[in-house]
Amino acid sequence: MARTRATFVCQNCGAVTNRWQGRCESCGEWNTIVEEAPASGIGARAAQGAVPGRVLDVEGLTGESRPDPRVETGIAELDRVTGGGFVPGSVLLLGGEPGIGKSTLLLQACAAMALRGARVVYVSGEEAIPQVRLRAVRLGLAGARVELAAATNVEDIVTTLREGRRPALVIIDSIQTMYSHVIESAPGTVTQVRGCAQALIRYAKTSGATVMLVGHVTKDGQVAGPRVVEHMVDAVLSFEGDSSHHFRMLRAMKNRFGATDEIGVFEMTGLGLTEVANPSALFLAGRDASAPGAAVLAGMEGTRPLLVEVQALVAPSPLGMPRRAVVGWDANRLSMIVAVLEAHAGLRFGAHDIYLNVAGGLRIAEPAADLAAAAALVSSLSGAVLPPDAVYFGEIGLSGAVRPVIHSGLRLKEAAKLGFRRAIVPESGRDSFENAAPDIRLLTCGHIATLASQIVQSAEGEAVLRPAGRRSAG
Ligand code: TYD
Ligand code: MG
Repeated sequence: MARTRATFVCQNCGAVTNRWQGRCESCGEWNTIVEEAPASGIGARAAQGAVPGRVLDVEGLTGESRPDPRVETGIAELDRVTGGGFVPGSVLLLGGEPGIGKSTLLLQACAAMALRGARVVYVSGEEAIPQVRLRAVRLGLAGARVELAAATNVEDIVTTLREGRRPALVIIDSIQTMYSHVIESAPGTVTQVRGCAQALIRYAKTSGATVMLVGHVTKDGQVAGPRVVEHMVDAVLSFEGDSSHHFRMLRAMKNRFGATDEIGVFEMTGLGLTEVANPSALFLAGRDASAPGAAVLAGMEGTRPLLVEVQALVAPSPLGMPRRAVVGWDANRLSMIVAVLEAHAGLRFGAHDIYLNVAGGLRIAEPAADLAAAAALVSSLSGAVLPPDAVYFGEIGLSGAVRPVIHSGLRLKEAAKLGFRRAIVPESGRDSFENAAPDIRLLTCGHIATLASQIVQSAEGEAVLRPAGRRSAG
């Protein structure tokens, strides 16, 4: 038999090296490299014939299987993100910055489920019982039958959970504070976090309880600790928001039981997190439509239309290298739109600072925002105020062509619901959404140069924004 050489494996990213190092070269984490004997890996003993495996039944892709049962919390925005409620036996990881409201949200979810008669257990490793109680009183939830525990030892927690009726939901707040006697490293270390997560996942899978792990995030927004925890759980949710704004967004980054593009919107009030059923109204509140540089995007978040204001400020720069700053959008996308406007619409941004902001702290990722961003930029550059009752959506190609985007009909309906009367939309694909919202006048735009020149002309008092295509039936 060949001489077995030990290998060194990073417990954070899984990179293998052949000598020990203090810092992993792949992921940059410190003290995560651990010696592992090659013959001790999973499957090693079976491969040597020491433990014979048994033959498994294999099955086809078709066959009878029931849809996953769901346990709803009754908090509609949370249930939307999980894909219609928690799946029994699943494990979720909720990440978010400190103070964003993770504990508040989960305490509210626990109370809502307890009021529906389910057994829920809230294990806090960070706060003492009186603190959690105080919060419950403030939230008006003190009457709910939530079982509280302040504990950090995973063996104790699992033993407690196995007593009595199977809980529907178990909260572990947070996974970084947990430790296991079996693992010889300090709480919070990669090995501890991973081992504790494993123990809790095993508990969830064998008992059928849903376990929600709270995870801290690092400065760059990643869930701290081993990335492997993200791979081990069934769903990773992220709770985001700007601490200077009241609303918070819950997003699914990964979901084995549902779509990942849904968001839940909450508002942090004195009475905890309240659901926001109509986020567009919230994001457009306090809008000043009489200033140049603001365009309303008829956007989509998952399957949900969302109107937001895209604001641009283009100002002459005293600097040799003018500034380009973006909040809530992609900086590369901004550079691209500016380049397209310069190349195909004859505008000059070279001597200007450009600031682009998505109002309300929302982050937009979809290319449909191109047209709204371009309109806001041209409006600010030229000083022309855009029509206050207009929404924009469309993707801009490098040639300046405005391309169709998905869900146009839904975007128009949402705009109509919020009182908008015009929509500046791509020309192609118009037939598919022409009749979606009869109250909205469609102004189609085939090339960004057309829209840009109309906005510039309106600044010079020559014309208001004119329809670029045929008028819709409405
Ligand atoms: P918390 O849930 O403790 O955050 P996390 O668990 O993510 O660290 O939220 C704490 C913040 O929420 C705190 O700064 C105060 C605020 N808050 C309210 O504004 N209203 C409330 O009713 C509650 C309970 C908290
Ligand atoms: Mg907390």
